[in-house]
Amino acid sequence: MAEKKKSSLKRKLAIAGLGVVGLLACAFGGIHFVAASKIAETVTVEVADLEIPEGSKAVKRGEYLVDHLLGCKECHGEDLGGKVIMDNGAMGLWYGPNLTAGKGSELVDYTGKDWARALRHGVGRDGRRLLLMPSEDYVTFSDDDIGAVIAYVRSLPPVDRANQDISLGPVAKGLIASGEVQFAYDKINHQARRPEAKPGPTKEWGAVLIGTCTGCHGTGRSGGKIPGGDPSWPEAANISMDKATGLGDWTFEQFDTAMREGKGPDGATVRAPMPWQAYKGMSEDDMKALWAYLQAAPAKAKGGR
Ligand code: HEC
Ligand code: HEC
Repeated sequence: MAEKKKSSLKRKLAIAGLGVVGLLACAFGGIHFVAASKIAETVTVEVADLEIPEGSKAVKRGEYLVDHLLGCKECHGEDLGGKVIMDNGAMGLWYGPNLTAGKGSELVDYTGKDWARALRHGVGRDGRRLLLMPSEDYVTFSDDDIGAVIAYVRSLPPVDRANQDISLGPVAKGLIASGEVQFAYDKINHQARRPEAKPGPTKEWGAVLIGTCTGCHGTGRSGGKIPGGDPSWPEAANISMDKATGLGDWTFEQFDTAMREGKGPDGATVRAPMPWQAYKGMSEDDMKALWAYLQAAPAKAKGGR
């Protein structure tokens, strides 16, 4: 009797189990469908013409911005010929495409407008909203600076490397379907006026530069989990001036050391993906501008992003 009960219980459990598996399969099917249709959706955006400057001054300026502020090489490779950004079961395979004019690049005949559509609006030439490409971080930069970035990228030797297709893992699909990970296009105010600050050690120029920190640290700069990040990454730190959980008690020298050498005031290593190796070469004025901006901006407790 007891035996029988047990086995029928087992059978019930097995049937219930099949039901759960079935439900999960439907849920994953649904998530897959929602994510796939969100990705396939195209948008039209009005893009202002952008002149690509010529000459070594622009190329040098672009090289500085790319290497020490904007992080393009973290995702598109040291030679900007493309690289795998992430490859794991949960998030899938994420690939930063070839930006050079070599074989395998899709940008060989990109015009200033095409570059601007990608860099400032987060949209590909085919009207697709770009995934993971942090265009929202670049919207505060002037025509001259974005033009210089393109001039630099185009001055690099062409790299012949085929792009790999991005293939999303189940967690990435879930995050996109639920809207937790948003496309840069949807985060950008496409009509916003750009700040008109001139480079210098001022909080106004810091307001331009801080754009490149907010993708990870949040627009309120209070840090927390980085949306769409690799699950192995630590949470972004609170870089607002909150005394308990942020940089409220830091001096400029301590900030400078964390930014350039990846060492916190307590000696702790600042871990990846915080790109301090790139920030090491930042100019003194730019570092001071960031600090001036952070000091003037409102303090927030950690994690509200
Ligand atoms: C966090 C990673 C990341 C960073 C940083 C990044 N990109 Fe990208 N970028 C990507 C990915 C991923 C794609 C492909 C997106 C897709 O196809 O949906 C992409 C696509 C592009 C495209 C192609 C757009 C198109 O029309 O197909 C251009 C151009 C580009 N990036 C330029 C840059 C430049 C220049 C920088 C630095 C100013 C930069 N990216 C920084 C990840 C990144
Ligand atoms: C790609 C993501 C990413 C970008 C871009 C980024 N950070 Fe970070 N940052 C992090 C993460 C993650 C940490 C926490 C590292 C740890 O816990 O070891 C961090 C830590 C820091 C710290 C150390 C704070 C502490 O309490 O130890 C400072 C300061 C900092 N970031 C400032 C900046 C500034 C300023 C910018 C822009 C110029 C920036 N970060 C851009 C991800 C990023």
